[in-house]
This record gives sequence, structure tokens and C-alpha cells, in this order.
Amino acid sequence: MLPIVTYLVLCLFCVVRAGVLPVDKCKLTDPACMVPAFQKAVPLFMAGLPDMDVDVMDVMKMDDVKFDLSGLQFSLSEAHLKGLKTSVIDNVKWSEKKKKFEVDFHVNTSIKGHYTAGGRILILPITGDGQITLKLKNVAVKFIVDYDLEKNDDGDEIIVPKKLDFQFEVKDGAHFTMTNLFNGNKELSDTMHTFLNENWKQIAGEFGRPIMGSAANTLFKNVVNFFKKSPIKDIVAA
Ligand SMILES: *[C@@H]1O[C@H](CO)[C@@H](O)[C@H](O)[C@H]1NC(C)=O
Repeated sequence: MLPIVTYLVLCLFCVVRAGVLPVDKCKLTDPACMVPAFQKAVPLFMAGLPDMDVDVMDVMKMDDVKFDLSGLQFSLSEAHLKGLKTSVIDNVKWSEKKKKFEVDFHVNTSIKGHYTAGGRILILPITGDGQITLKLKNVAVKFIVDYDLEKNDDGDEIIVPKKLDFQFEVKDGAHFTMTNLFNGNKELSDTMHTFLNENWKQIAGEFGRPIMGSAANTLFKNVVNFFKKSPIKDIVAA
């Protein structure tokens, strides 16, 4: 019992004192070190790090989304995204020369919130205003971040992410449940659910980006905050 307690106390102490994640330091360009280090950081990072201005991101409180795309007017509000702490890191590619890094990961997630929909979705007319539950199976994401190096007030070098680009693909399925479609008309609602759940791949490809973009921006904002509070010397192997 004692060694475990000692370890916990020591580890807690070192985390609090250094203000860094208790994961191995790597050379940035060493994926064999970076991938497991990122993997170890995922659940801690997604649980939130108040000292580093990193918000709780599993569950993530999403920013509102509103778009008018290919004939569909859609809004999503009061939405929560669940599952990011179970993300599996597939690759971390870091170029110090280009000041750019790419992180590939995949994850199962679900989104719940309030939606409004009007217009048409692919070929079908749609109208609705209610709750939406969206389950996404095996979403593969690539995050591409351009950054600069700057000095903080202590003169220590920090990474300042400047620009986020991302790609995603919903690989194994998207499942839609929406309440109050067509003012509660059950027949039309059932038809729409069948249509959505049969054509999930095309729908995720066509309309997924603004929704994933909202989550990606929140993640990016927290990554920016994290690096701001983490001098390179504290997080990177010399
Ligand atoms: C996603 O869920 C499936 C089962 O539905 C599971 O086999 C898979 O390992 C999960 N993937 C991740 C990244 O957790």
C-alpha cells in the first residue's frame, strides 16, 4: 500500500509543481515516443487541466452551429459531445523546420443537443425542431497545426499554434435520432430516420464538417492555452 500512496503523492506533487502532464518527454520528431506520450495525455487532457486553462472536453460543451448547405438549413445548440477521452492516437508527425504538426486519431463519439432543420436533406424535404442524438462510430480525424515559436514573460520559448486545418471521415457508421420531426408526424419521421440511417455515409460527408469544425475549434483553443502555459523546456526532451 505504502509505495502506491507514495507514488500518488509524489506524482501529484510533480504535476502540480511543474504544471505539466505526467507523460514522457519526447523529441518532437520521434513518433515512436510521441504517439504513446500523446495517448497517455489524452484522458488527462480531455478531463480538463484548470491550471493550464484547459477546459473539460469529455463531456465537451459545444459552441452553437448554424449552417445553410446544399439546401439544408440546420442549427445545433446546447450540444454536448462525448467520448474524446477514448480517442486512439494513430500518428504524430512533427516538423520543426516547417513549424507544423499533424495528429491522426480515431474515436467513437456521440453528440446530443437541440436542433432545428428546414429545407431538404439530399433529396428529401425536412422540417423539425427538437432533440438530436448523433452516434458516430470510428471517426478518423487528422489535425494539422501550423505554429510559431515565441517567448513568454519569463523568456522561455513556447509553441503558439496559429492555424488549424482538419480532415475527418466517419468510417463505421452514423446513427441519427431526432425528436419532433415534421411536427411529430410519426410516419414521416420514421421515413426520415430510415433515410438518414441508410444514407449516413453521404450525409456525414455532406453536412458533418460544420459540426466537426465546432468541436475541432474548441479542441484547438484548448491546445493553444495548453502550450501557452507549457514552456518547451518543460514538455520536450532536450
Ligand atoms: C468503437 O466501438 C467499437 C464497438 O462498437 C469498438 O470495437 C472499437 O474498439 C471502438 N473504438 C474506439 C477507438 O474506442
